[in-house]
Amino acid sequence: MSDTASSVRLFFAVWPQEKVRKQLARLARRIADQCAGRCVRPENLHLTLAFIGEVDSSVVPILRQAGSAIHRTSFDLLLDKLHCWGKGSIIAAGVSQPCGELTVLVQDLRNQLSAAGVRYDTVKFVPHVTLVRNAKREPGQEHFPETIPPVAWAADRWSLVQSRPTPYGSAYQSLADWVLASQDSDEHHRA
Ligand code: 2AM
Repeated sequence: MSDTASSVRLFFAVWPQEKVRKQLARLARRIADQCAGRCVRPENLHLTLAFIGEVDSSVVPILRQAGSAIHRTSFDLLLDKLHCWGKGSIIAAGVSQPCGELTVLVQDLRNQLSAAGVRYDTVKFVPHVTLVRNAKREPGQEHFPETIPPVAWAADRWSLVQSRPTPYGSAYQSLADWVLASQDSDEHHRA
């Protein structure tokens, strides 16, 4: 779809809290230095749940409604490994152990999107936080870490996010947030 005033680029994601963001930002800096890559800016670090892409802005209320229909609990992620994609140019933190609650959140979201007739990227979901882009060195070279000091992340909310291009890269803005109920409560709040 062409980029008109009424078109918006959207995705659903989980954003880390400050402490986790700082840990991930430090890790991204260290890896970027090792592979001559470009760090994702700390405020942009996120885990994408579903990528919608460019849609008419009239779709936003439909996406808000789809998100509001989901009631899931918070989950703990342990980011403890690295993925290298795009012939090694993209480096992301990932998980070695699957997280059931995250998987069902993504599946619920995909079901709601399908039911609402909204298209999304149906590529296999691999939980990750992209840390570095434009890396120049292939993984496996000396000093490139395959495992990382584990980063523990207690995810307790998720968002519908708009992406806008800027001269400094993408800028992200939350359009809606949903709280994940704490695991020891039956409450499901809206943010
Ligand atoms: P990622 O780089 O961490 O995989 C917003 O564009 C976000 O959506 C990107 O940061 C990207 O997260 C994710 N995404 C997932 N599928 C995408 C796609 N097909 N095109 C662009 N971004 C995608």
